[in-house]
Amino acid sequence: MIIVENLSKSFGGRILFENVRVQFNAGNRYGLTGPNGAGKSTFLKILQGDEEASGGTFNIPRRVGILRQDQFKYDENRIIDTVLMGNRFLWAALEERDKLYLEPDLTNEMGMRLAELEVTIGEENGYTAEYQAAKLLAGIGIPEHKHYELMKTLPTDLKFRVLLAQALFGDPDALLLDEPTNYLDLQSIGWLEENLHQYKGTLMVISHDRHFLNAVCTHIADIDYETIIIYPGNYDEMVSAKVQARQLVESENRDKEKKVNQLREFVNKFSAGTRSTQAQSKLKEIERLESTELKRSNIQRPYIRFEIKRPSGKEVLRVNNINKTYTQADGSPLEVIKDFSLEVRRGEKIGVIGNNGLGKTTLLKMLTGELPPDDGSIELGYEASIGYFPQDYKQNLQGEGLTAFDWLEQFGDSETTNEVLRNYLGRMLFSGDEALKNITSLSGGESARLLMAKLMLLGNNLLILDEPTNHLDLEAVSALSVALTDYPGTAIFVSHDRDLINKAATRIIAFKENKIEDYAGPYEEYLFSQQKKAAPEQAKSNTKQNKSKNKKKEASIYDNL
Ligand SMILES: Nc1ncnc2c1ncn2[C@@H]1O[C@H](COP(=O)(O)OP(=O)(O)OP(=O)(O)O)[C@@H](O)[C@H]1O
Ligand SMILES: [Mg+2]
Repeated sequence: MIIVENLSKSFGGRILFENVRVQFNAGNRYGLTGPNGAGKSTFLKILQGDEEASGGTFNIPRRVGILRQDQFKYDENRIIDTVLMGNRFLWAALEERDKLYLEPDLTNEMGMRLAELEVTIGEENGYTAEYQAAKLLAGIGIPEHKHYELMKTLPTDLKFRVLLAQALFGDPDALLLDEPTNYLDLQSIGWLEENLHQYKGTLMVISHDRHFLNAVCTHIADIDYETIIIYPGNYDEMVSAKVQARQLVESENRDKEKKVNQLREFVNKFSAGTRSTQAQSKLKEIERLESTELKRSNIQRPYIRFEIKRPSGKEVLRVNNINKTYTQADGSPLEVIKDFSLEVRRGEKIGVIGNNGLGKTTLLKMLTGELPPDDGSIELGYEASIGYFPQDYKQNLQGEGLTAFDWLEQFGDSETTNEVLRNYLGRMLFSGDEALKNITSLSGGESARLLMAKLMLLGNNLLILDEPTNHLDLEAVSALSVALTDYPGTAIFVSHDRDLINKAATRIIAFKENKIEDYAGPYEEYLFSQQKKAAPEQAKSNTKQNKSKNKKKEASIYDNL
C-alpha cells in the first residue's frame, strides 16, 4: 500500500499538483495518466526518492520495484547483474563485500564489517539470488548462455524484459513502471499484460497506450487540474467519468458566475448608500465564490504542420539490392536486410510495421545515411532532403544549459527571427516561459514535441520518422496523424500505433521473419490481403473483422537466441 498525504510539487512558478491525498492499495493495478508534462514521471520519481516534493508526505513499502524510462542505463552491466540490482540492499552489500575481499590487508574493523555484510546478504536471500535471477531470466525467454553477457548485446525489447525482471526481483511490495510499452511490439505488450496480471502487490504504471491501460488496470490515477484523482475502472471508464465530473463542475460554475454577477450588481448599486454594510458582506461572498475558481485542464493539442521549403523531384528515393548483416557477440552473423529494393515516389506515406528486432531501425538508418549498407546502393532523388526523427531521440537533445528556445534556434537560418521560433514553439505547446525550460528537464513527450518543432522549422521534403509516437499523449498522436496526412512531401515512418498507420499510411512495408513485404495500399487493404493469403476462400470484404483476427504471432529473429 502507498499512502500520499498533502503532497505538492511545483517547478518555479508552475504547479504540477497540490495537496494530493490518495491511497494505492495492494492487489490493485493503477494506471497513472495525464497529458505530456502533467507530472507523471515526477510523481513516480518522488515516490522512488529520486526527486524532492515541494510539500507533504508519503508512505511507501521498503521493497519497491522500479522500471525507469532509460533503457541504456545498464548497457555496460552483465544481464544477470542487472537483474540482481533490482534488490538494492542486496546489491549494495554484495558490492561492498567484493571490494573488501580485494583488500590486501584486512583490518579487524574490515573483518567485522564483512561479518555484518554476510548477515545482510543472508537476510536478503543472497545465497540463492543468482539462481532466482536466472530463473526469472529463463521465464522471460533469455537463454542461459546469454546471462553473463552485457546488456547492450540484447535487442530493445529483450533488454526491456530484463529491466522488468530487475523490477520484479526480490518480491517487491510495490511496482512502479514508467511507460513500459514504449519500444515494444504488440506481441511483447501482450507478454507484459499477462505478467502484470499475476502481480500481487501495488502496481502503478504510466502509459499513453489506451489499449494497454484498458487491458491491465483496475483503477486510473489521473493527473490533471493540478491534482491526482483516482477513478475505479479502466481508462475508457475514467474518461467518461472525468467528462461527467467536469460537466457537473462546469454547470456549478456557471451558476456561481450568475450569482457573482448578481452580487456585483448589488454592490455597485449600494456600496456608498445606506446599505453599505450589506454591500460589504456581499463583497466577501464574491471573494469566497471566486476563490474556488475552476482549475484549467492540462489537456492541450499541439498544432503540427509539416510544410516544405522546396519540393523534391517525382522520384524521391531509390534503394537497389541492399544487404545488411551484423556480427553478434559470439561472432556469428545476423542477417537483417537481404536483397532489399525500394522505389519511393513523391507524396507517398509509407508506414513501416513489424515486430521488434527485425531491422526496421536499421533500414531507416541506412536511408538517412547514418549507417552504410554492406552492399547495394541508396540514391536520393533530385532536391530530396531528409528530416529525421530517430528512435532514441533524447540523445539529440544535448547541450549544457540550453533552453528549448536556444536548442531550436541552432537550426534556423538568416530568416529565422525570434517570432518565427516562438511561433513554432508555441504550436508545440512551449508558450511563454515554457520555451525557456532547460532541455535536460523536459519530459518524454515534451522532448518529442521539441524535435517535431525542429522538423517543422527545417521544412524538409522527405520525413523519416522512427517510432515518433512513443512518449506522445493521445492529443499529440492524433495531431501527428493529421500532420502526416496533410504533408505535401513524402514520409516514411515506423510505428506500432495501429491508428496512426491506419490513418496516415498510403503504402505499407511489413517486416516479417526472413522477408520484407511491400504493399501498395493502405493498412486495412494490406490486412485484407494477408487474410486472403491465409485463407483465400474465406476472405470476406469485411476488413474490420479481419483486422482483429490478424494479431497472430509473428516470429522474430531472436526467437531462437
Ligand atoms: N528540473 C526541472 N526543472 C523545471 N521543470 C521541470 C524539471 N523537471 C521536470 N520539469 C517539468 O515538469 C513537468 C512534468 O514533467 P514529467 O516528466 O513529470 O511529465 P510527464 O507527465 O511524465 O510527461 P510525459 O508524458 O511527457 O512523460 C514538465 O513540464 C517538465 O518540463
Ligand atoms: Mg514521463
